[in-house]
Amino acid sequence: MLEIGFGTGTATSVMARAAPHEAIIAVDVHTPGVGDLLNAIHDQQLSNVRVIEGDALDFAASRLPPNSLAGIRTYFPDPWPKARHHKRRIIQTQHVNTLTPFVRPGGFWHLATDIDSYAEQMLQVFGDSDEWNGGIVERPDWRPVTKYEAVALAVPRQITDLIYVKSSS
Ligand SMILES: C[S@@+](CC[C@H](N)C(=O)[O-])C[C@H]1O[C@@H](n2cnc3c(N)ncnc32)[C@H](O)[C@@H]1O
Repeated sequence: MLEIGFGTGTATSVMARAAPHEAIIAVDVHTPGVGDLLNAIHDQQLSNVRVIEGDALDFAASRLPPNSLAGIRTYFPDPWPKARHHKRRIIQTQHVNTLTPFVRPGGFWHLATDIDSYAEQMLQVFGDSDEWNGGIVERPDWRPVTKYEAVALAVPRQITDLIYVKSSS
């Protein structure tokens, strides 16, 4: 399982504890958050999480074999709310195309965002792809509230979860 942009990793460690046989690779560019997750791994004695400090696209391209992931989790990617900054968003066709080959057929991509225009962008990007099927879902019970999400819920902003499954052919 690849988690892209785990932030402080609070949700990551909850999911790792809940599924001890699931191997999680958690990637983020933000060094203090990397420290937080490493501390949690140490304190909670988690053996199923590996932490990568760096860019998820670079990591995947340089280190992952094709069809190696059961799934990708991207919870509350940086919103870049201004229209002129939308091209910086990680969920865009070019990046999704880069990451898709690393997910095995039947694998999934679970996304969540509190930004309506980003949810629309996710729907468009995955909807345009022949390789992914899915869309908006009810928030799964097992997805922990992330640190970023707690702030959004307090505003309050609507949270959108999306799950896509990679086609088998
Ligand atoms: C808005 S935060 C959300 C963090 C966490 N998922 C949460 O919900 O609390 C987005 C995170 O994505 C990370 N990030 C942004 N671009 C990234 C990239 N290309 N590769 C890995 N992480 C990235 C940022 O450093 C940040 O920690």
